Amino acid sequence: MDYVQQRVAQMASQTDTSSSALLTPLNAILLSLLAYTAYAFLLRPAPPPPSLPAEEPAVVFRTFTPRTLLPYNGADGSPVYLAVRGRVFDVSRGRNFYGPGGPYENFAGRDASRGLACGSFDEEMLTKDLDGALDSLEGLEASELEALRGWEERFEEKYLVVGRLVAVGEEEK
Ligand code: HEM
Repeated sequence: MDYVQQRVAQMASQTDTSSSALLTPLNAILLSLLAYTAYAFLLRPAPPPPSLPAEEPAVVFRTFTPRTLLPYNGADGSPVYLAVRGRVFDVSRGRNFYGPGGPYENFAGRDASRGLACGSFDEEMLTKDLDGALDSLEGLEASELEALRGWEERFEEKYLVVGRLVAVGEEEK
């Protein structure tokens, strides 16, 4: 091999050495970091915006009469409402209690005031004439009114008031 060939071979081996010097473990790590950063900031598709929670249906405060309250007894998946002393509570969350087949289904869609006060499921606790006067709760003892107050407090904590109960003819007042 003459001098020129020797020199070319020498240069080639020098080039090899310098290119393998570029591939040090440190450079490899830096390169992968760079590649990852480029991917993360430039190439990766943006995550979808967080979906908003489904909107609760708005509560419209309504006026009910005993008759218009009646359908809200939870049958066929309808909401369950009951009234206590003129206030209508949406007790749908307690469907197991008040819905069809529940232990307190007699109160669903009704003015439950007297029944709750007396701790009774008797039919005569409920307003018979749906187009007549509301139960004035006349004749209840202090202890019964106290018990009723207790139920009201429980309902206030647990359920939403969705309306008021009035007698037929009193709707506009
Ligand atoms: C043998 C008698 C009774 C038993 C063993 C009984 C049992 C229960 C139980 C275990 C609960 C569930 C409590 C909870 O998890 O919050 C409950 C709730 C209730 N009970 Fe009774 N109960 C009885 C009598 C009555 C009577 C006589 C009335 C009224 C007439 C009544 C009205 C209610 C009401 C309104 C609720 C609340 C439901 C709600 O949170 O919406 N219970 N009862």
